[in-house]
Amino acid sequence: MTVTQPSDQAARERIREDLDSTLFVEAGAGTGKTSELVRRIVRLVASGRTEMQRIAAITFTEAAAAELRDRVRIELEKAAGETDSPSSEERTRCEAALAQVDAAAVETLHGFARRILAGHPLEAGLPPSFDVLDEIGASITFEERWTAFVDDLLADQSLEETLLRAFTLGLTLEHLHIVALEFHRHRDRLEDVTIDVGPLRAVDAGPLVRDLEQVCELRASCQDPDDGLYRHLEGLDMYRRRLAAAETDLVRLSIWAEGTRMKCSVGRRENWDGVTPSDVRGLLTEADQMRSDLLWQARSSLLSPLLAAIRHFILKYAEDRRRQGRLEFHDLLVQARDLLRRDALVRSAVREQFSHLLIDEFQDTDPIQTEMAVLLAAKGVDGKSPPWHEASIEAGRLFFVGDPKQSIYRFRRADIVLYQAVQERFSGETVRLTQNFRSVKPVIDWVNHIFAGLMAEETEGQATYVPIEPWWEPPETTPVTVHVLGGPSEGLVSSIRQREAAEIARIIEAAKAEGWPVGEIQGSGERVIRRAQYADIAILMPTRTTLPPIEQALEEEFGL
Ligand SMILES: Nc1ncnc2c1ncn2[C@@H]1O[C@H](COP(=O)(O)OP(=O)(O)OP(=O)(O)O)[C@@H](O)[C@H]1O
Ligand SMILES: [Mg+2]
Repeated sequence: MTVTQPSDQAARERIREDLDSTLFVEAGAGTGKTSELVRRIVRLVASGRTEMQRIAAITFTEAAAAELRDRVRIELEKAAGETDSPSSEERTRCEAALAQVDAAAVETLHGFARRILAGHPLEAGLPPSFDVLDEIGASITFEERWTAFVDDLLADQSLEETLLRAFTLGLTLEHLHIVALEFHRHRDRLEDVTIDVGPLRAVDAGPLVRDLEQVCELRASCQDPDDGLYRHLEGLDMYRRRLAAAETDLVRLSIWAEGTRMKCSVGRRENWDGVTPSDVRGLLTEADQMRSDLLWQARSSLLSPLLAAIRHFILKYAEDRRRQGRLEFHDLLVQARDLLRRDALVRSAVREQFSHLLIDEFQDTDPIQTEMAVLLAAKGVDGKSPPWHEASIEAGRLFFVGDPKQSIYRFRRADIVLYQAVQERFSGETVRLTQNFRSVKPVIDWVNHIFAGLMAEETEGQATYVPIEPWWEPPETTPVTVHVLGGPSEGLVSSIRQREAAEIARIIEAAKAEGWPVGEIQGSGERVIRRAQYADIAILMPTRTTLPPIEQALEEEFGL
């Protein structure tokens, strides 16, 4: 190794030393983002700016949080034991921090939210011994409530006509169930939404009937009653008459909704006089468009009262969970956010309790995370707090770390557009790390090459690829390469999966047998190269469906 310092050393020093600024660090995988976050925590404590128990370090998963706590502990131990540079005062502070690290708020956002709620249950309107339901329990309870809601909905006289019409137009209870689940998932956004519910509109078939009548009269210009277009118009005329004769809105709607085709492509030119088949077909296309527009309007006007009823159901259910103290996982975030939003006293108490908020994996942020971070870092605001993008925050309280390319939790509301907005709003300049410590040059070259092409352009919601630089050279003895397995394959998916699995098993066997080199950092910080073991190998797969053939192949290869 010829270089002695990472090429981005200045950025790393800034993270450790510029402790009184709000920093936003953006960097690729394995560049030491989490390591630098840990070092910043140690510096915050060692410099006497704060204490470990006043720091909140938030990451995305329970596993990452446990690892983060361990890494903080290890770095604090190192700093407490160092004899050369830090002053004895700094060492003493790190020792004190070590005693606090187990109880410190190094946790997931949900854990942090729970901590805030547990500290202020009465203000949050929760019974002091509130519970958090697991996912299965939450789902069962939701379905029970939904069933009861549907019974009420179907018995509700004021919605009877709306429902009849909606069902006539193809709506099903399953559709409503899907809407309810989405509303439930985003219940925190429902409160600010108003749904206007107007009276049911009369179903006016007049314009469509008149249009069809005019087109159907054009039959007189056709000489051949066997002409395809002529026959089509005959059929449509029947349809028009039924529509005109319909006595109720419901019947009119059901005729509208029939799949009767209006547009057609038949008709011979020589059979028509004074008007061409193509003119007639143009008029039919217009009539068809009119029918679709009318249907669309009818459908959307019917949806409003139903959406309003579902919104009410979801909010009422959330309210009941809060009163009973039986929260769902996501409720932790919503309740903590709401509490911080509305209660200036609690807000200032929590702000006093936590002087610094450091957030790892910020690319997977839930919108509520941003809001909570800002609420806790905003300059003293009394009463109701302003929206996050208007708040002015105290410098140095917030520290964000993220890699937009690694955002994987979109289904859990991670939002890259929001990530970028926060970055712009709170950091004058983004601190970037580019040196990768995890992989060796040939692997990184391959990754840079592939992804620079695949993620070439920045579009909204999609990060561009930023190349990373290797820190470690590959060991001189064995070449390190990227193996691409397989190649174009034909046959049934199941047999391709089996072949793929067999290749995976073979390459694992080769890695072990040939002793592929693995770099390992020793406790002393020195890196040694050793032969690969099975424990070094991870198999990543997009879905679980590919797992059984892989298990089988591994069993066959290794008898595991
Ligand atoms: N300054 C450094 N010098 C040498 N090795 C380092 C340095 N910083 C971090 N590392 C090592 O690099 C590896 C990756 O570090 P870390 O987990 O902090 O990266 P990261 O950017 O947070 O990764 P991810 O993108 O997966 O979250 C670890 O093995 C760590 O020990
Ligand atoms: Mg990390």
